[in-house]
Amino acid sequence: AKNVGILAMEIYFPPTCIKQEVLEAHDGASKGKYTIGLGQDCMAFCSEVEDVISMSMTAVTSLLEKYNVDPKQIGRLEVGSETVLDKSKSIKTFLMPIFEKCGNTDIEGVDSSNACYGGTAALFNCVNWVESSSWDGRYGLVVCTDSAVYAEGPARPTGGAAAIAMLIGPNAPIAFESKLRSSHMAHVYDFYKPDLASEYPVVDGKLSQTCYLMALDACYKGFCQKFEKMEGKQFSVLDADYVVFHSPYNKLVQKSFSRMLFNDFLRNASSIDEAAKEKLAPFSSLSIEESYQSRDLEKASQQVAKPFYDAKVQPTTLIPKQVGNMYTASLYAAFASLIHNKSSDLAGKRVILFSYGSGLSATMFSLRFTEGEAPFSLSNIVSVMSVAEKLKSRHELEPEKFVELMKLMEHRYGGKDFITSKDCSLLAPGTYYLTEVDSKYRRFYAKK
Ligand code: ACO
Repeated sequence: AKNVGILAMEIYFPPTCIKQEVLEAHDGASKGKYTIGLGQDCMAFCSEVEDVISMSMTAVTSLLEKYNVDPKQIGRLEVGSETVLDKSKSIKTFLMPIFEKCGNTDIEGVDSSNACYGGTAALFNCVNWVESSSWDGRYGLVVCTDSAVYAEGPARPTGGAAAIAMLIGPNAPIAFESKLRSSHMAHVYDFYKPDLASEYPVVDGKLSQTCYLMALDACYKGFCQKFEKMEGKQFSVLDADYVVFHSPYNKLVQKSFSRMLFNDFLRNASSIDEAAKEKLAPFSSLSIEESYQSRDLEKASQQVAKPFYDAKVQPTTLIPKQVGNMYTASLYAAFASLIHNKSSDLAGKRVILFSYGSGLSATMFSLRFTEGEAPFSLSNIVSVMSVAEKLKSRHELEPEKFVELMKLMEHRYGGKDFITSKDCSLLAPGTYYLTEVDSKYRRFYAKK
């Protein structure tokens, strides 16, 4: 199979959201902390009738319908998620009824999980399958689904929720440059979920930021080495038309991209002109550890990066800024933003993606665009996703209502024997929602 990659995409996020400006005031944070300090505009969250299973059912059903894909044509289904509703039964199995009713139960794949990285693991599994000798000619389907919720405190505004479905196959408008992949994996306790009775993570915010940047450095270094070996020339950010990051909050994305330019400076790469060299020269003697702490370096490299950021990164930031951290779906929501913003301009372009999951696992990889043919064309992906319409039709809730919902769901997490309000008035037609968890913890859903 040639040009294996993403043929089609669909994104779903809850219609319920809260403005960061409003949350900031409610939390008593200083004005601008969430909007400028974190760089976030709005945060989506599941109400008590939605969860990672209902969101993924919505995304999968909608993708199959809107691209006219026969469920029998799916040979592999992989789910990436870090939201645990069951320690054994995979989310994938909850999606099987969609295929069972068409007589297709011959579908490989289960769930992948490691913080925000599970979606990338799922995606690689599908791409590798299509590229392998066990491929049976059918499509792969990847689903990234998460509800990111934090306990009250500084991490709470970095929540979010979404599900993204991606159809994988050959001759894709978004094809993998499979040889260009570099990973960094290590054992750290930056963000983890050891308390199985709680949906909330244990998080060392500062450490998670540094781990993210260290993983970025390692992946970028390896990526450049592989590129140079393959192409016989040095890589710099100029060789990437766009760079897409896992996006817990926008400020970290800004810092990450600047960090790539600092790496270019250290390797004396082509993106760094004389003026930039002069700005960054004072920092060339910093130890790596010092470089993660230096405010002055952060400022200088952000200045150097600014024009590149505006061209190569800014178009990827829309959905993550509006929806928040979607964990496994975050990177792909940033990617969806790029397609939404630049669809007609993408053919022939290369995009570099950086996936990070705490704990930690990280990979940098490369994709190439072509326009593709309907229904699997970039322009059709844009119209199916209808990002602008979905963002516009949301409902902003008051902070008191948000806090109340968080409390209710905290209480229900891991619980049984309850019926939800079944109130789907805010949901769009076609959306799945949770109706009941019975005395044996079995979950029931309905479709609006
Ligand atoms: N106006 C403008 N900026 C402000 C204001 C203000 N009024 N107040 C604070 N800021 C800035 C700060 O200077 C800081 O900027 P900096 O990062 O450039 O220094 C930023 O806002 C955040 O403020 P802090 O005081 O550093 O934030 P805090 O410690 O309260 O929490 C954190 C931020 C650590 C990101 C927290 O939200 C968190 O733990 N989130 C979850 C972990 C996370 O997302 N990690 C990322 C990678 S791992 C993953 O994806 C889960």
